[in-house]
Amino acid sequence: MAEPKPNELMEKIVSLCKRRGFIFQSSEIYGGINGFWDYGPLGAELKRNVRELWWRAHTQRREDVVGLDATIIMHPTIWKASGHVDTFSDPMCDCLLTKKRFRADQLEPQSGHAYWYSGATSGPDPETVKAAFARAELANRADIRDRFEKRDWGLLGQELQTQFSESPVKELGRQLLQCCFQAKVSNDAFAVLLPPGKPPESARKTAAEFYRQRGIPNAVLLGERSEPVENSRRFNSEKGEGFGALLTEPRAFNLMFKTYVGPVESEENVAYLRPETAQAIFAQFKNVLDVARQKVPFGICQIGKAFRNEINPRNFTFRSREFEQMEIEFFIRPDEVVQKLAGPVGAYTDGLDVATPQPNWGWELWHRHWVEERVKWYESIGLGRDTLDFHWQPKEELAHYAKACVDIQYKFPFGTQEIEGIAARGDFDLSQHQKFSGKSMEYFDEEAKTKYVPHVIEPSAGVDRLILALICNAYCEDQAPNDKGELESRVVMKFHPRVAPIKVGVFPLLKKKPELVAKAREVRDLLRPHLTVFYDEAGAIGRRYRRQDEAGTPFGVTIDFDTLGEKGPELKDTVTLRDRDTLKQDRIPIRELVPLLLEKIR
Ligand code: GAP
Repeated sequence: MAEPKPNELMEKIVSLCKRRGFIFQSSEIYGGINGFWDYGPLGAELKRNVRELWWRAHTQRREDVVGLDATIIMHPTIWKASGHVDTFSDPMCDCLLTKKRFRADQLEPQSGHAYWYSGATSGPDPETVKAAFARAELANRADIRDRFEKRDWGLLGQELQTQFSESPVKELGRQLLQCCFQAKVSNDAFAVLLPPGKPPESARKTAAEFYRQRGIPNAVLLGERSEPVENSRRFNSEKGEGFGALLTEPRAFNLMFKTYVGPVESEENVAYLRPETAQAIFAQFKNVLDVARQKVPFGICQIGKAFRNEINPRNFTFRSREFEQMEIEFFIRPDEVVQKLAGPVGAYTDGLDVATPQPNWGWELWHRHWVEERVKWYESIGLGRDTLDFHWQPKEELAHYAKACVDIQYKFPFGTQEIEGIAARGDFDLSQHQKFSGKSMEYFDEEAKTKYVPHVIEPSAGVDRLILALICNAYCEDQAPNDKGELESRVVMKFHPRVAPIKVGVFPLLKKKPELVAKAREVRDLLRPHLTVFYDEAGAIGRRYRRQDEAGTPFGVTIDFDTLGEKGPELKDTVTLRDRDTLKQDRIPIRELVPLLLEKIR
């Protein structure tokens, strides 16, 4: 089957998400709200599975990570200390024509010819003046023609009045001057970038619309000049109405959502919806340390909502304004302390085993360890290494305090993009909170007999981006036989059984046979305490399989006449177990179903 093109594929995925209840637009009945998404019945299950698997893998299955569940609104000084109040911003610019807002750094650079205008006036219509000139037989005079071409109506009017004695020309001058006195003028500069080969007329049309919006109908454009432009981000690059229009200069826009705590909306009551879950972990570091019976190195993790007032939410749920994060702050010894205890700090070389922590690990090997741990986890839920990419941030991209940062990226249909960042952040965060709160964040290391502010490795993943990656990864179009055995195309969501929203579909072969229905309900009730089951008795069996294929249900159990023992006692109380991906159907005794399915989904 031909592979759909990326845009087409994304459209199909978005449509399936709505049709099958994975993801809906938030507040859809009111026209939606940009950057906010709701998860329907299947999406909610998928998300819950992902959260649980992450939590289990990093807390229950490790001895050195404990959990936290902090509030969304915290003391505003936390965000001062973390740097978010002063620097958590994106460069933003607006299209001067459409008023649409863009992230300046995400604009497509463009080349072409820019047409600049110093302003516009509603002065006389050039065509009317031209006709009047022709009548007065002035159109051939070079000085007059020059003024006319420059639309210098005021000077022209004056000259006509003073230099000519004939009354019709004088009258034309008078009318021009009068027009100029009544004219509206805009001195707002504007420009339009045209791609190579486009006639200047189209820039003039766009500019006239810009000045019309400023109260100048039939604008006479002033001071037109043009220049070649290469790879510029000063013009609207979005195809459509404002394409090529000049943008405002970029300005910093803080992404934190502000609110007020208490009834008075004053500056001292300002609070923020957290833009990341991480800071609560730093703020609670000492409390957790006191109670968790952990020693450095150890980690604290949290799953929760985060909010960013993104300038340009886009690519479905990829860049949302409300989303969820799964973050770990893994506290480690500074390299000097490692060296004091274990000798030279281990250095990373290709192929080095970073699975089992060693006493001589400094930040570099702990960082590598976490990258590897996270990739293994992605593999365990169906995102193979081949679906991922790694962007090791070069020095100039790193925050001033960071020693290293790698973005784990997924190859989405709309491009390869980050789903998780893993940073070695030194002691920046704890030191900042120590400074701003006046409370010590130092840790006494009994083994090293020394005090220090721990350093940190931060694996920070987005739940929603991961869900989108899982959905894109699962989406598949192939062929499967229908009830008559003829091949027909199907959409199938090939989720890994661990994350699949529904684990098993249970179907009586025929709805009209009460014995089949009764047995099928018995099987459903047997499975329900152990896994998510969808019971379906409506429609032809092939249609029912297809519905579950689209939902990504990995297994289907069908109760047929053999189950009732109609073809002999040896098949009594057996069912067919259908595999969503291979379409293979095996006969299984009902009593073996639970252990078999549990083994397959764990
Ligand atoms: N504490 C570090 C931190 O927050 P980040 O790279 O800004 O780092 C971490 O965010 C992860 O959170 C990203 O890799 C992404 O998965 C998710 N994320 C960030 N902004 C998002 C947004 N606007 N919509 C959806 N997910 C987002």
